[in-house]
Amino acid sequence: MAYVQSTPYKPPLPNPSTWNQPLRQQQHCSFRPPPTERVSKKRDKEKKTAIIDPMAASKEGVISNKQVLLKYYVTGFPKESDMQLITATTKLKLPEGSMGVLVKNLYLSCDPYTRFRMTKPEPGAGYVDSFKPGSPIGGYGVAKVLESGDPKFKPGDFIWGMTGWEEYSVITATESLFKIQHTDVPLSYYTGILGMPGITAYAGFYEVCNPKKGETVFVSAASGAVGQLVGQFAKLLGCYVVGSAGSKEKVDLLNNKLGFDNAFNYKEEPDLDAALKRPVDIYFPEGIDIYFENVGGKMLDAVLQNMRVNGRIAVCGMISQYTLDQREGCHNLIYLVSKQVRMQGFTVLSYYHLYGKFLEMVLPAIKEGKITYVEDVVEGLESAPAALVGLFAGRNVGKQVVAVSRE
Ligand SMILES: NC(=O)c1ccc[n+]([C@@H]2O[C@H](COP(=O)([O-])OP(=O)(O)OC[C@H]3O[C@@H](n4cnc5c(N)ncnc54)[C@H](OP(=O)(O)O)[C@@H]3O)[C@@H](O)[C@H]2O)c1
Repeated sequence: MAYVQSTPYKPPLPNPSTWNQPLRQQQHCSFRPPPTERVSKKRDKEKKTAIIDPMAASKEGVISNKQVLLKYYVTGFPKESDMQLITATTKLKLPEGSMGVLVKNLYLSCDPYTRFRMTKPEPGAGYVDSFKPGSPIGGYGVAKVLESGDPKFKPGDFIWGMTGWEEYSVITATESLFKIQHTDVPLSYYTGILGMPGITAYAGFYEVCNPKKGETVFVSAASGAVGQLVGQFAKLLGCYVVGSAGSKEKVDLLNNKLGFDNAFNYKEEPDLDAALKRPVDIYFPEGIDIYFENVGGKMLDAVLQNMRVNGRIAVCGMISQYTLDQREGCHNLIYLVSKQVRMQGFTVLSYYHLYGKFLEMVLPAIKEGKITYVEDVVEGLESAPAALVGLFAGRNVGKQVVAVSRE
């Protein structure tokens, strides 16, 4: 197979001294079962006992607690004005008899699926429960345990898992939390490469795609939290990897920092089918063995025409469809038959049992500089609404993280 020769991937030297800096400056260097309906309801109930009357704010143990609330259910693209930053007060103490944990939130993750949770619940429509207007947004995050009613955690432990978009949270669904055992990497990594997006990339690529050395791999939304890792896992295996992204800056990142063999800006391609087989760049002259699908829509249609016989498509997500009232149709499914392609959707929920195995692989790869990880960190809870909204306009470069507190 004739591929364009790529520049050999040179891993950057790890530089632990910069690991705790915001990567917007540094630039390069969640679903353990998500809060199911049951979990969220429990949490809301307990939260009510944790947040007390502002009039009592002067009493000992009561502190202010900034929160980002969902104002009302969202349709179409989410807007900053769909959310509201308030300062509530919280009693810095677990409710009597609680088996939960009281945590200080450090890093919060902005994830595309959050958009689903901002939608009015429709029976049978989604696999995650909706937020309630007037309640804090929730999602994956990294936090420090202040008090624990669960013997698995003790004050001072760091955890990652489902928490609230607020400074302090009481988490009752402790079974969904991971205790962070390795703190010699930046804690923010547990919102991304070492958290939900990391295990998604790992399971989606190795388990769903069944990849082999030398195969051709295409990744969409390739500079995002999941895509950047899938591309690098594929390179480590010896695959030929092309990514698509929505800006020149992201294409440069894929080509020059993340070790992709090639990349293109899909927004500049009026004909995606032609782009994928363009002879000048020779992206996929003989077709695609593996497509890691993150965006859906027109990209999926174009890829279907370019799949090789016995190819695999892992459907991780379809972000281009999340904000549409009327989702686009797919016109080229016929190629699944003629090319005998296996197309499989998956959710990370089914793969958390692999987390230990995943860490064994990815932690050394990070420390040895075999994997480069790019985060986009904004500071403060007040920046969270814009950061979340930005995912749907492609404003994030790398994994979007909100640093609530760095201590
Ligand atoms: N199955 C699972 O369990 C699971 C778990 C995690 C994530 N996911 C899915 O995986 C996908 C990637 O997630 P992520 O966390 O890596 O995302 P991310 O880092 O938040 O990146 C999102 C990126 O998607 C691209 N995008 C936004 N709107 C788009 C559109 N209309 N058309 C094409 N691209 C668009 C943008 O990049 P560009 O500038 O390149 O357009 C944006 O930066 C999403 O679909 C997400 O829902 C699934």
